[in-house]
Amino acid sequence: MNKLRIGIIGLGTVGSGVYKTLEDIEMVEIVKIAVRNLNKPRSVEVPSSLLTDNPYDIVNSPEIDVVVELMGGVEPAWDYISTAIKNGKHIVTANKELLAKKGEELFNLAEEYNRVCLYEAAIAGGIPIIMPIKTILAGNKINKIQAILNGTTNYILTKMDACGASYEDVLKEAQALGYAETDPTGDVEGFDAAYKITTLATLAFKKRIKLENVYREGITKIRKEDMAYANEFGYKIKLIANATIDENDNADVRVHPMLVSQESMLAHIDYVTNAVAMSGYPIGNIVLSGPGAGEFPTASSVVGDILAIQAEYGTTDYVLPMMRCHHEKNANPVLIDNTFNKYYMSITAPNAIGVIAKIGTICASKNISLASILQRGVTDDNTADIIVITEKCQEKLIREVVNELDNCTVNSIIRVAE
Ligand code: NAP
Ligand code: HSE
Repeated sequence: MNKLRIGIIGLGTVGSGVYKTLEDIEMVEIVKIAVRNLNKPRSVEVPSSLLTDNPYDIVNSPEIDVVVELMGGVEPAWDYISTAIKNGKHIVTANKELLAKKGEELFNLAEEYNRVCLYEAAIAGGIPIIMPIKTILAGNKINKIQAILNGTTNYILTKMDACGASYEDVLKEAQALGYAETDPTGDVEGFDAAYKITTLATLAFKKRIKLENVYREGITKIRKEDMAYANEFGYKIKLIANATIDENDNADVRVHPMLVSQESMLAHIDYVTNAVAMSGYPIGNIVLSGPGAGEFPTASSVVGDILAIQAEYGTTDYVLPMMRCHHEKNANPVLIDNTFNKYYMSITAPNAIGVIAKIGTICASKNISLASILQRGVTDDNTADIIVITEKCQEKLIREVVNELDNCTVNSIIRVAE
């Protein structure tokens, strides 16, 4: 049996899970592991002879066949990965930021050197989604993705909704559980989900999506009141990654909070669980769900990629097509202003005659129909909280409505999933 010789860069949450999982797998030999700080206490016992604080010991080593990058960030990860490819190594990575920002360069370089770069763990943690799209779903024309792709934010929203827990406390829990990025701004402001949907939509649509064309909003402005009102109207609030593409390759790709019907599947995806719903021809609708972050679920995907390479390594000079990733054409971006959605708006208005009529008149002047409107009494400061849910209308027009609502404060605008 030929053992696959790997070098791992990073022994944090994911690296530790990969190390522990590989302890039971004979076909893979870990030759070296690079960390930043050799003296740091770790959750895993690793012989000191395996450790280095110089990743070049891995990427330049003739004893290593595959480099497993689990450190995160763009630089110096890109330097290590690109050097490794030029030195003839295959790559396994969980680094969604690098994929979203450098994917085109990375896959072109891998193709030039006839190497593969596998990244199952980068999108939706433990859910097998990348390999199924490349293999068994390859005959499909996928045109829609609606997904929960960030475990940290889903954990926070679920706990705030279920137990009324505070945002700060739940974020700390998600960090302690190893779900959050080193800088959790990446999670809570929607960057992480934006990186993931960029790569996922590129693969599924077979057209390159550029990160700069992905509209993004995080969950930091979601108020407890919005969650309570959402519940009252029969919804839950989730951070949703949406992507659609039409027959002319116009792609609308975005990440933002959404009200999803309590009867929908996504409303029941809770805590760290992720879910990816896709529509395409000929499959119709498909949903994959499972743990989206954490040490072992992520290790499952990383180790799956390592073993996929191990199964083929040395059997052919050419990498299998399913392991390749080409995207010759770019999709045309659809600007957020030109998208059509239903909207939830929370408005604080002065307690004056005709306020609701004014909201209705401004909406009517833009041809925006109101589906629901709610006002519950007047508060001590003589203002009223008014909740409006619109029918589908153009984003640009909703922004015009907000500008024309003088004397009112629009506390939140959240899109409503159909
Ligand atoms: P982490 O716990 O912060 O671990 C990062 C590891 O990389 C640490 O061991 C660190 O060394 C090492 N490192 C950082 N900079 C380095 C450098 N310049 N040279 C050598 N080693 C360096 O991060 P993580 O949560 O495991 O995430 C790793 C990657 O997986 C990221 O791309 C992340 O986005 C992705 N990912 C994470 C999850 C998850 O649930 N956590 C899920 C899917 C994907 P020290 O230990 O010495 O500091
Ligand atoms: N920080 C990420 C999340 C890790 O919470 O989903 C998994 O990619």
